[in-house]
Amino acid sequence: MKYIFGNWKMYLDVEESHALAQEIAGLNIPDQVEAAVFPNTLVFAQVQEVLKKSDISVGAQNLNWVPQGAYTGATSAHLFAQARAEYALVGHSERRHLFGENNDDVRKKLEACLDAEITPVLCVGETAEDLDDGKREYRLKKQLQKALEGLDLSGDREMLIAYEPVWAIAGSGEGRACSPEDCAEVFLWLKEEIRQYTDATIPLLYGGSVKPDTVLSYLSLEAVDGVLTGTASTEATSFTAMIEAAQR
Ligand code: PGA
Repeated sequence: MKYIFGNWKMYLDVEESHALAQEIAGLNIPDQVEAAVFPNTLVFAQVQEVLKKSDISVGAQNLNWVPQGAYTGATSAHLFAQARAEYALVGHSERRHLFGENNDDVRKKLEACLDAEITPVLCVGETAEDLDDGKREYRLKKQLQKALEGLDLSGDREMLIAYEPVWAIAGSGEGRACSPEDCAEVFLWLKEEIRQYTDATIPLLYGGSVKPDTVLSYLSLEAVDGVLTGTASTEATSFTAMIEAAQR
């Protein structure tokens, strides 16, 4: 299975999100590809409605661990589950670095997703500073340990992990993609690291400036199960091109 996930972030307005959902709703998604988009919370239900008969899943960009009650501005995993979210991004670098989410928050969100039967996509990645200081593994180790140690992944509980170096992300980072060679090395290390915490099969995605013309260089790496794309998923043509590339 190859995963092509598209995080629309806050790039699109209401009308544009609706239009994009309609444009991609008819896409033929082959059996060996799992496609999902992550629209803004405001348009989540609308996009889900458009895509509900398509082969494209819909996920939450962010949710809260609190279940229900006096939590102004929060949207719980439970509410997203009711709105038929199949996935949720947890710990995306923009949440961590622009909105101050820490590893404890991330852990609580992971647990909330699993309890609500939403498959979390845990995002991990080092900053440019970490990389320059030789702290890439240290940072990833910490993020993984806090997220995975003792996490209940029994039964039907599933999760994915996306490695997204902060510096590789367009817009919020420097937008210089991690090379496939570098990625291959990190992914082997990540797989070993993850195995310390669980025997569950956890698909591993790469994210950070993936484009239609580079997607295949990542997907063809044995350790890479898919990609989490931002910018390139916000246009029907490039999203379609990535789905097509995943079939090759
Ligand atoms: P990008 O974003 O593809 O625009 O770099 C990826 C992400 O943040 O998930």
